[in-house]
Amino acid sequence: MNQITSAELREKFLSFMESKGHHRIASASVIPENDPTVLFTTAGMHPLVPYLMGTPHPAGTRLTDVQKCIRTGDIDDVGDSSHLTFFEMLGNWSLGDYFKKEAITWSWEFLTSPEYLGIDRDRLAFSVFAGDDDCPRDEESHNLWKSMGVRDDHLFYLPKENNWWGPAGLTGPCGSDTEMFIITDKPACGPDCSPACSCGHYLEIWNDVFMAYNKQKDGSFQPLAKKNVDTGMGLERTVCVLNGKQSVYETDAFTGILNRIHELCGLNYGDSEETTRAFRIIADHMRTSTFILGDDRGVSPSNTDQGYILRRLIRRAVRYGMQLNMPEGFTSEIARVIIDQYRGVYPELERNSAFVLEQLKLEEARFARTLRQGTREFDKVASRAENGMIDGLNAFHLYDTFGFPIEMTMELARERGLTVDTQSFQEHFRKHQELSHQGADQKFKGGLADQTVETARLHTATHLLHAALRKVLGDEVAQKGSNITAERLRFDFSFGRKVTKEELAEVEKLVNEAIAADVPVVCEEMTVPEAKARGAIGLFESKYGERVRTYKMGDFSFEICGGPHAEHTGELGSFRIQKEESSSAGVRRIKAVISGS
Ligand code: ALA
Repeated sequence: MNQITSAELREKFLSFMESKGHHRIASASVIPENDPTVLFTTAGMHPLVPYLMGTPHPAGTRLTDVQKCIRTGDIDDVGDSSHLTFFEMLGNWSLGDYFKKEAITWSWEFLTSPEYLGIDRDRLAFSVFAGDDDCPRDEESHNLWKSMGVRDDHLFYLPKENNWWGPAGLTGPCGSDTEMFIITDKPACGPDCSPACSCGHYLEIWNDVFMAYNKQKDGSFQPLAKKNVDTGMGLERTVCVLNGKQSVYETDAFTGILNRIHELCGLNYGDSEETTRAFRIIADHMRTSTFILGDDRGVSPSNTDQGYILRRLIRRAVRYGMQLNMPEGFTSEIARVIIDQYRGVYPELERNSAFVLEQLKLEEARFARTLRQGTREFDKVASRAENGMIDGLNAFHLYDTFGFPIEMTMELARERGLTVDTQSFQEHFRKHQELSHQGADQKFKGGLADQTVETARLHTATHLLHAALRKVLGDEVAQKGSNITAERLRFDFSFGRKVTKEELAEVEKLVNEAIAADVPVVCEEMTVPEAKARGAIGLFESKYGERVRTYKMGDFSFEICGGPHAEHTGELGSFRIQKEESSSAGVRRIKAVISGS
């Protein structure tokens, strides 16, 4: 395979799709319009959801683009060889136009034709959907790949876990997919090795989704009136794989950025593991920050929503910059390189460049002023940590006085084998917010600032899940962590073994019964000893003797908690466990969703 640059892959893809009747459209904003459930655009299909649902698109029924995407779920993993928070996604769409036959034929042509990628067919493998109760086995795609000349041992039927995509949120367009893989020089890990395996023998480069269903609130799949095709090819990753590189950071997307970091600090990428990691974190975070700031809907760093993610990215980059002894103002120096590199494809970056550079200078200076002092404060706090845990008040102090995002304190703690009492941090954070909002709108009183109805419902479901787990598995179950996104809740709890299917079904049933009973969620303030005496489960200890809030739902659940909550359990609609898995030694993790009421 010949080497290919990012610019070549981008242009080859888009012009190939144009030759097949697709209209080239511009990338949409990285900040979604009219979608309060997510902070950033995560896939090429995301801005196209209304059209995938049937609204006619002004540019027709065949579209292609390169979309700016941001996925921040794995920020903490950035620094390894593959994770990125910003990436470009190439895609083509059929809006009720062609379906499997054309999509697969064109994918094959683009991958193998010498005019385009010219990949040796023996180095390609494909997976198709194995079928289940929701959607039949995809024999059509299997046969189509075979008719292209794909060998039987390079074709795999895989289940929903691997070969299904979407919806992007809880509901919406989705379907089975067929995925395309490069077979690398790394040998297969065993006779059962397949593209479902992460050993590195197969690396995914492209995904054709056959969007034939609209997932409903109740979890069922309704056929879409018009069937669509949605494809996605991650640009950086594909360039990396096609060029046989070990890391996305070794592709041309990062050459200029890493060079600039080298010029600024005098160290070399690759000098040591630590230095390499710092280079990668700075490069990734500055790229993402530049694209957030440089968007036409760009935001400034702040303490909420997209602005908070941006602040975290910049501050984390500044922290790693300090490790490399970067000069003051380095963030805007790096952003300049990024703007120059991408302005041809994303002209908004140049249009908004003054804002990008100014905001970076301001945020870097704001944080640099307190970073050294804050780091010293952290060292003190860490040396005083009791039972390996930094308490919530200290974490809040680092946030409030030194501008340390809680995630940064957690990362610093992790580096020393410590943890942070995040629950107590949240409590202090909320109290502080309430104080600063006192007298304001009524809704702030319950600590509901920045909280959506969706979060409140999912959070309420967490209480019911916690109670149900204790009823089914016993009192050894205690909450270890909780995380809520717009789509789902995640609940970590202490328990020594895998929870059986039967037990999970029983837990689900109990929660749904509590929802069906539609009891009011009653909030009452009391002291911790009083709450304990009355049988509340305490998720945190109040060290300062203040009154705490408790939430009671009938006889089912009674917890000390800071909110936010639904008013009646019936508002949760229904509850479904998606997954149960190990989180760490002695801790299990459940992911669950609720439907509309
Ligand atoms: N929407 C599909 C993906 O993100 C193509 O993989």
